[in-house]
Amino acid sequence: MRKQIAAANWKMNLTIEQGAALLEGIIAKQQNLKEDQQAIFAVPAPYIQMAQHKIAGKESMFVAAQNCYSKKNGAYTGETSVEMLQSLGVKYVVLGHSERREYFQESNQLLAEKLNICLEYNIHPIFCCGEPLNIREANTQNEYVAKQLEESLFHLSAEQVQQVVIAYEPIWAIGTGKTATSEQAQEMHAFIREQLAVKYGSGVAANISILYGGSVKAANAAEIFSQPDVDGGLVGGASLVVDEFVAIIGALK
Ligand code: G3H
Repeated sequence: MRKQIAAANWKMNLTIEQGAALLEGIIAKQQNLKEDQQAIFAVPAPYIQMAQHKIAGKESMFVAAQNCYSKKNGAYTGETSVEMLQSLGVKYVVLGHSERREYFQESNQLLAEKLNICLEYNIHPIFCCGEPLNIREANTQNEYVAKQLEESLFHLSAEQVQQVVIAYEPIWAIGTGKTATSEQAQEMHAFIREQLAVKYGSGVAANISILYGGSVKAANAAEIFSQPDVDGGLVGGASLVVDEFVAIIGALK
């Protein structure tokens, strides 16, 4: 049974005090999660330890990093290694967010290397894919996303790929208030699962959680998450507000 996941991506927001208060607020209001449900908090790297302390003892809550580097260690000033994250007890890392692809020139090839090193250290990548507006307007989003999967993910073994969470984030819906319709989300999620099935078999594809990201909020989460191939969300803006994120967790199937 694949996991249903509400993943918060704080991006480069909040002071440590604000982040701590946000986590405390969510934990105080959060009902118990079902066995197959998880809440993940992708916090800025300097807040990882704080966040780990706040969620200590919460079995279904995890802290994620928002990025990592592709090399084990060495003279890479400013970067965070997977070994460092592992030493902090981190279990998830967001990889290939469209903001990293656009502002930091992360290529599919670099992301393949990052996936490899995360898996080597038993850290689950939350691998982001998704098309920009001009590709959606040209109706070539399937080809675009298939290439991202092919070049970053499909070198993995069946065992490895089942450690990955996929997040489909249409770039035109990120931070714009413009959400993909639940039908558009389902269509792409089903397409991604089909690609996984062709490559690895339907049993493997059925085990992989595929999250939707792009202006998810309390008001639309239940409808989007109700789609059969949508296994939760990767949430930016609305994850910074206690009641919004608590409601989004509550909307998981
Ligand atoms: O990682 C999260 C996505 O970029 C979505 O951000 O919920 O602010 O649109 P958003």
